[in-house]
Amino acid sequence: MAAEKNKYTILISKEEISRRVTVLSEQISSEYAGKEILLICTLKGAVIFASDLARSIKVPCELGFVKAKSYSGDQTTGRVDISFEDVPDIKGRHIIIAEDIIDTGLTLKKLSEYFLAKEPASMKICALLDKPSRRKVDIKADYVGFKIEDHFVVGYGLDHNEKYRNLPFIAKLEL
Ligand code: IMP
Ligand code: MG
Repeated sequence: MAAEKNKYTILISKEEISRRVTVLSEQISSEYAGKEILLICTLKGAVIFASDLARSIKVPCELGFVKAKSYSGDQTTGRVDISFEDVPDIKGRHIIIAEDIIDTGLTLKKLSEYFLAKEPASMKICALLDKPSRRKVDIKADYVGFKIEDHFVVGYGLDHNEKYRNLPFIAKLEL
């Protein structure tokens, strides 16, 4: 197994992430008051974000999981492979897709088309990070943690060849 040898610099601290996740979950909790949410986590990148978000959302919140892969190392392959790991019935549910980062937008476009076809009562996208300058397709998140420049970032669930996911902050990786 390769060591974590790339240098990195912290871009968003653990405290900043925590404050922002609290704000997002408060916003979601008030907008969904009286409703139940099905929070769909995109594996693996969004697992830490979705876990923190789910725990601070104040309305009933079921969890679903999809696995989406479009990156190899630091390069997008332009192809999105999706497997539906554990997603309950979508029809009539209020779903929120929790994504770690929107880059080209291809993953979310494919996921949102798939879920919309299943007739949810509503569908929103909550992304921790957004790199708008990299967009190839027209996709916008309803809730965004942080907009960032075109850096390759790791930590808080995001990886480079499966490394760095467990860092508690978001860091810019030197490639
Ligand atoms: P998109 O389909 O190009 O929008 O890619 C989205 C997926 O690519 C994200 O969910 C991440 O898993 C991965 N990705 C995009 N940019 C980065 C990055 O800077 N660091 C780590 N993973 C990334
Ligand atoms: Mg992802």
